[in-house]
Amino acid sequence: MDIDKFIDLLKSRRSIRAYKPDSVPDEFIQLIIEAARWAPSGGNSQLWEFIVIKKKEIRDRIADLFVESTKPIRQAELTREKELRVPALEREVTEPGFKNAPVFILYAVILE
Ligand SMILES: Cc1cc2nc3c(=O)[nH]c(=O)nc-3n(C[C@H](O)[C@H](O)[C@H](O)COP(=O)(O)O)c2cc1C
Repeated sequence: MDIDKFIDLLKSRRSIRAYKPDSVPDEFIQLIIEAARWAPSGGNSQLWEFIVIKKKEIRDRIADLFVESTKPIRQAELTREKELRVPALEREVTEPGFKNAPVFILYAVILE
Protein backbone atom coordinates (compact mmCIF):
# COMPACT_ATOMS: atom_id res chain seq x y z
CA MET A 1 0.00 0.00 0.00
CA ASP A 2 1.17 3.54 -0.80
CA ILE A 3 1.57 5.16 2.65
CA ASP A 4 1.35 8.72 1.25
CA LYS A 5 -2.00 7.95 -0.36
CA PHE A 6 -3.19 6.41 2.88
CA ILE A 7 -2.16 9.52 4.87
CA ASP A 8 -3.85 11.75 2.25
CA LEU A 9 -7.01 9.69 2.63
CA LEU A 10 -6.94 10.16 6.42
CA LYS A 11 -6.37 13.90 6.09
CA SER A 12 -9.09 14.44 3.49
CA ARG A 13 -11.82 12.73 5.57
CA ARG A 14 -14.35 15.20 7.04
CA SER A 15 -17.43 15.06 9.26
CA ILE A 16 -20.63 15.69 7.32
CA ARG A 17 -23.48 17.59 8.97
CA ALA A 18 -25.70 18.48 5.99
CA TYR A 19 -27.24 15.88 3.73
CA LYS A 20 -29.04 15.55 0.44
CA PRO A 21 -32.45 13.87 0.84
CA ASP A 22 -31.57 11.20 -1.78
CA SER A 23 -31.94 7.64 -0.55
CA VAL A 24 -28.74 5.66 -0.12
CA PRO A 25 -28.46 2.49 -2.25
CA ASP A 26 -28.36 -0.73 -0.21
CA GLU A 27 -25.02 -1.66 -1.83
CA PHE A 28 -23.47 1.48 -0.28
CA ILE A 29 -24.95 0.65 3.11
CA GLN A 30 -23.47 -2.85 2.84
CA LEU A 31 -20.08 -1.38 1.93
CA ILE A 32 -20.14 1.03 4.90
CA ILE A 33 -20.98 -1.81 7.31
CA GLU A 34 -18.37 -4.03 5.71
CA ALA A 35 -15.75 -1.32 6.31
CA ALA A 36 -16.93 -0.74 9.90
CA ARG A 37 -16.86 -4.41 10.85
CA TRP A 38 -13.14 -4.57 10.05
CA ALA A 39 -12.51 -2.31 13.06
CA PRO A 40 -10.45 -3.99 15.78
CA SER A 41 -12.21 -5.17 18.95
CA GLY A 42 -11.01 -6.39 22.35
CA GLY A 43 -10.00 -10.06 22.10
CA ASN A 44 -11.39 -9.89 18.55
CA SER A 45 -14.79 -10.25 20.23
CA GLN A 46 -16.66 -8.27 17.53
CA LEU A 47 -19.50 -7.67 19.99
CA TRP A 48 -21.42 -5.40 17.67
CA GLU A 49 -24.58 -5.16 15.72
CA PHE A 50 -25.32 -2.59 13.05
CA ILE A 51 -28.92 -1.48 12.79
CA VAL A 52 -29.96 0.25 9.57
CA ILE A 53 -32.82 2.69 10.00
CA LYS A 54 -34.52 4.15 6.97
CA LYS A 55 -38.00 5.02 8.30
CA LYS A 56 -38.26 8.76 8.91
CA GLU A 57 -40.52 8.42 12.00
CA ILE A 58 -37.90 6.23 13.68
CA ARG A 59 -35.01 8.48 12.63
CA ASP A 60 -36.88 11.50 14.04
CA ARG A 61 -37.54 9.67 17.31
CA ILE A 62 -33.86 8.75 17.63
CA ALA A 63 -32.84 12.35 16.96
CA ASP A 64 -35.31 13.51 19.66
CA LEU A 65 -33.93 10.94 22.12
CA PHE A 66 -30.41 12.12 21.32
CA VAL A 67 -31.41 15.72 22.11
CA GLU A 68 -32.94 14.55 25.41
CA SER A 69 -29.80 12.56 26.28
CA THR A 70 -27.61 15.67 25.91
CA LYS A 71 -29.60 17.66 28.52
CA PRO A 72 -28.23 16.07 31.74
CA ILE A 73 -24.72 16.13 30.25
CA ARG A 74 -25.08 19.86 29.58
CA GLN A 75 -26.50 20.47 33.06
CA ALA A 76 -23.51 18.69 34.60
CA GLU A 77 -21.11 20.67 32.39
CA LEU A 78 -22.70 23.96 33.47
CA THR A 79 -21.79 23.18 37.09
CA ARG A 80 -18.09 23.32 36.19
CA GLU A 81 -16.02 26.51 36.30
CA LYS A 82 -16.63 28.39 33.02
CA GLU A 83 -13.00 28.25 31.90
CA LEU A 84 -12.91 24.47 32.41
CA ARG A 85 -16.03 23.71 30.36
CA VAL A 86 -15.95 21.80 27.08
CA PRO A 87 -17.69 24.10 24.52
CA ALA A 88 -19.41 21.21 22.72
CA LEU A 89 -20.92 19.98 26.02
CA GLU A 90 -21.88 23.45 27.25
CA ARG A 91 -23.85 24.28 24.08
CA GLU A 92 -27.57 23.49 23.98
CA VAL A 93 -28.38 20.86 21.33
CA THR A 94 -31.67 21.64 19.59
CA GLU A 95 -31.26 19.73 16.34
CA PRO A 96 -28.45 17.24 15.84
CA GLY A 97 -26.47 17.51 12.61
CA PHE A 98 -27.35 13.93 11.67
CA LYS A 99 -31.12 14.53 11.90
CA ASN A 100 -31.59 14.96 8.14
CA ALA A 101 -29.41 12.07 7.05
CA PRO A 102 -31.56 9.82 4.81
CA VAL A 103 -30.42 6.68 6.61
CA PHE A 104 -29.00 6.02 10.08
CA ILE A 105 -26.67 3.13 10.87
CA LEU A 106 -26.74 2.49 14.60
CA TYR A 107 -23.92 0.64 16.22
CA ALA A 108 -24.95 -1.46 19.23
CA VAL A 109 -22.58 -3.29 21.53
CA ILE A 110 -23.88 -6.73 22.48
CA LEU A 111 -23.42 -7.43 26.20
CA GLU A 112 -24.86 -10.85 26.89
C1 LIG B 1 -16.83 10.05 19.51
C2 LIG B 1 -17.17 11.25 18.63
C3 LIG B 1 -18.30 11.96 18.90
C4 LIG B 1 -18.68 13.04 18.10
N1 LIG B 1 -19.83 13.70 18.37
C5 LIG B 1 -20.22 14.70 17.57
C6 LIG B 1 -21.48 15.35 17.80
O1 LIG B 1 -22.22 15.03 18.72
N2 LIG B 1 -21.84 16.35 16.96
C7 LIG B 1 -21.05 16.72 15.93
O2 LIG B 1 -21.45 17.64 15.19
N3 LIG B 1 -19.85 16.14 15.69
C8 LIG B 1 -19.42 15.14 16.48
N4 LIG B 1 -18.22 14.51 16.24
C9 LIG B 1 -17.36 14.96 15.13
C10 LIG B 1 -16.22 15.85 15.61
O3 LIG B 1 -16.73 17.11 16.02
C11 LIG B 1 -15.25 16.02 14.44
O4 LIG B 1 -14.66 14.75 14.18
C12 LIG B 1 -14.16 17.03 14.72
O5 LIG B 1 -14.71 18.32 14.86
C13 LIG B 1 -13.11 17.10 13.59
O6 LIG B 1 -13.73 17.42 12.36
P1 LIG B 1 -13.61 16.43 11.10
O7 LIG B 1 -14.22 15.10 11.50
O8 LIG B 1 -14.38 17.11 9.99
O9 LIG B 1 -12.16 16.28 10.79
C14 LIG B 1 -17.84 13.43 17.03
C15 LIG B 1 -16.67 12.72 16.78
C16 LIG B 1 -16.35 11.64 17.57
C17 LIG B 1 -15.08 10.86 17.27
